Amino acid sequence: MSGAFSLSTSRRGFLLAGAGLAFTPWLQSWPARAGEAGASGDIRITVAPGRTRLVGPDRPETEVWAYNNTVPGPVVRLRQGEPARLVVENRLDEDTTVHWHGIRLPNAMDGVPGLTQPPIKPGETFVYEFTPPDAGTFWYHPHANSLQQLGRGLAGALIVEERTPIAVDRDLLWLLSDWRFTSKAQIAAGFGNAMEAAMAGRIGNVVTLNGAVPNEEPVRAGERVRLRLVNAALARIMALRFEGHRPAVVAIDGQPCAPHEPEGGRILLGPAMRIDIVLDMQGEPGQRYSVTDDFYDGHSYVLTNLIYGNETRLRRQPLDRALDLPRNPLPQPDLAVAERHELTLEGGMMGGMRRDMGGMMGGGPAWSINGMSMTGDGHAGMEPALTFRHGRSVVLKLRNDTAWWHPMHFHGHSFLVLDRNGMSVPHRQWQDTVLMAPRDTVEVAFVADNPGDWMLHCHVMDHQMTGMMTVLRVA
Ligand code: C2O
Ligand code: CU
Repeated sequence: MSGAFSLSTSRRGFLLAGAGLAFTPWLQSWPARAGEAGASGDIRITVAPGRTRLVGPDRPETEVWAYNNTVPGPVVRLRQGEPARLVVENRLDEDTTVHWHGIRLPNAMDGVPGLTQPPIKPGETFVYEFTPPDAGTFWYHPHANSLQQLGRGLAGALIVEERTPIAVDRDLLWLLSDWRFTSKAQIAAGFGNAMEAAMAGRIGNVVTLNGAVPNEEPVRAGERVRLRLVNAALARIMALRFEGHRPAVVAIDGQPCAPHEPEGGRILLGPAMRIDIVLDMQGEPGQRYSVTDDFYDGHSYVLTNLIYGNETRLRRQPLDRALDLPRNPLPQPDLAVAERHELTLEGGMMGGMRRDMGGMMGGGPAWSINGMSMTGDGHAGMEPALTFRHGRSVVLKLRNDTAWWHPMHFHGHSFLVLDRNGMSVPHRQWQDTVLMAPRDTVEVAFVADNPGDWMLHCHVMDHQMTGMMTVLRVA
């Protein structure tokens, strides 16, 4: 890992192994404060069953599993380059862990049961300690019994604040969750249905925004809003359109990109992805504008509406300030000397089934990566598909040899998306989750600078559980 960790954690000896890589100017001005972890206050997170009203005041409460009794969990706010201490207590009656999705942290803090830590048993507490090197929009969720635990409500946003944020009037978060509810607003049974697992996964019937069925988002004409979008769904891909508005994408998966308008005006958000946009509220006072999700053909719906108040316009012209977020200290891969590898995704219904996936319909693996099917959530003794020497630049070619979409997530690193189907990808997109369409080939590059065994898996939870997962080792 780059110098960010080693400057400010007590695990100095271990982390200095990663020093000598890119040092960015802000790090130089950042004082070393070894041993301060926790001094500024622990963040306590309790995982427990609970009840909450997700679908509206006149409907029944839903039985959920929750972080600190709220759905989604509390927004965890950390500061870039400052040590954090998160104390997680498990009051479920099954094991859990927390994965801090997208944070480049020490392997032992990554939350993969068996692989990076023992699971947190019922009644136990685990302390996560790390120093986030990157500012941006991240999230956290369990990595144990993932399909059910995430599907029953365990997810929350993690915002690492920039030292100098961009100028906006408001900074908003929309954490989007997808639920399959019964008519009594309870979470439907049937997690792990083998047929679904071999297709698009468990797509639900109700989408919530910050834990409520959305309807109206009050805005003011002329204001500039930063909107952090988080797709915390198990399987639902979203493509958001802001009627009458021109959003600018300023960060993807927490990493700043060149500000740009999304292709075709649609913000494509696969499960686990985050996109930060800047919206200038150029609509008319007193008017309403819909925000729609039209990802699935014939199933578009209005997610919510921007409701303009009647106040006078805050300003005539859009705020004349730059949209560029400060860059994070990511190590630049050297493409000239990078080692190159291919990972091929196979399996699922209708095509790409080269191997006999042995009893797919009987609950066996439905998917594979390079012919191997690691199932479940992570466990001890997983052999890595690839091993990289610490500090090497790596180009991975991911081939989707299936008929389905897959948001592929790599732990412990962010990667630069180089090209898709042979076309180079503009805007300097660093991501930790790349959404692949059926038959897509995507090339990504990164520096293997973070030692340990790291999961790479599809974030459609049913796909992960049924084999679309592998381990990459940095040694
Ligand atoms: Cu967000 Cu391995 O997951
Ligand atoms: Cu998948």
